[in-house]
Amino acid sequence: MISIKGLTKVFQIDKKQVVAVDDLNLTIKNGEIFGVIGYSGAGKSTLIRLLNRLEEPTSGKVTIGDNEITSLSKNRLRNARQNIGMIFQHFNLLWSRTVSENIEFPLEIAGVPKEKRVQRVKELIDLVGLTGREKAYPSQLSGGQKQRVGIARALANNPKVLLCDEATSALDPETTDSILDLLVDINERLGLTIILITHEMHVIRKICNRVAVMEKGKIVEQGDVLDVFLKPKQPVTKKFVEQVMGSQEDDIGQLIENYSTGEVVRLHFVGESANQALISKISKEFDIEVNILQGKITQTKLGAYGTLIVQLIGEQDEISQTIQYIKEKTSIEVEVLKNA
Ligand SMILES: Nc1ncnc2c1ncn2[C@@H]1O[C@H](COP(=O)(O)OP(=O)(O)OP(=O)(O)O)[C@@H](O)[C@H]1O
Ligand SMILES: [Mg+2]
Repeated sequence: MISIKGLTKVFQIDKKQVVAVDDLNLTIKNGEIFGVIGYSGAGKSTLIRLLNRLEEPTSGKVTIGDNEITSLSKNRLRNARQNIGMIFQHFNLLWSRTVSENIEFPLEIAGVPKEKRVQRVKELIDLVGLTGREKAYPSQLSGGQKQRVGIARALANNPKVLLCDEATSALDPETTDSILDLLVDINERLGLTIILITHEMHVIRKICNRVAVMEKGKIVEQGDVLDVFLKPKQPVTKKFVEQVMGSQEDDIGQLIENYSTGEVVRLHFVGESANQALISKISKEFDIEVNILQGKITQTKLGAYGTLIVQLIGEQDEISQTIQYIKEKTSIEVEVLKNA
């Protein structure tokens, strides 16, 4: 478990003070992929760099497993850091070293004997899918391949935690997806805890179990990814959800005006229920017509989520029974927008 208590970082520039992380509290469970999302300047990078003390905190406490990171001496911190891998937006590779030599570097620092290093590098190259590119230099690799080297290097000493600071922000969407798949694979195969910082909700949606939204150095909202997607509370969170879902409230008033017969209802799908063929089911079981007006369903790590706005046309009695059925027999939430 990672526990962050009262963590604060104040930067002093000339006579001005910048509070980058402000009395922040957070708990991250072992083995989860935890996302932190926020706009530029929110303090995300500072937060993640405080976790391995690349940045010294002004006050507060960070505990990773049994280690209280914030109270370790320099020597003991060096050992503790072997359990905390980190990857970066711009990869931070050594340009004069080959792929193999980059991955070998942290093993050399840890004093691993040559024979074992060679063996371990081979395993890592295989794990991240770079077989055949061992002798290439970073300048000869694509962005995605460079990040694979970064990931292999971060995993060299078998860390328990992997910190990712905008690890996919320099990559195109397709390469982003392949790197995210690799992170999920590593998380599942090695049971690694991953903390991932991003400004892209797509990244959170695709691989995170839980998410925290950061603004002005504080966590303003957090929860399971599905819950946060379904019921974002803070304006900043709503904006991030819109990145993926589009604005849900486009002209609902207009929509209702245009469809004046029957009832217009909004269906909220969360988790597995979205996979049930609800629309075809209700139109078969009840004597109604179902007209889909607007909607979007998206997949998250824990299932599908989204909303559909539909018009139900038929006898009032049949419509009421249909709504009753959805409420009682499914986990889909129904909200009546207009009752003609
Ligand atoms: N070394 C530093 N010295 C002074 N101020 C800093 C330093 N590092 C960060 N800051 C300030 O702290 C605040 C938070 O910065 P940080 O880099 O953590 O934000 P971020 O959320 O990672 O942003 P981005 O999405 O742009 O990477 C900003 O106001 C920034 O200017
Ligand atoms: Mg940053």
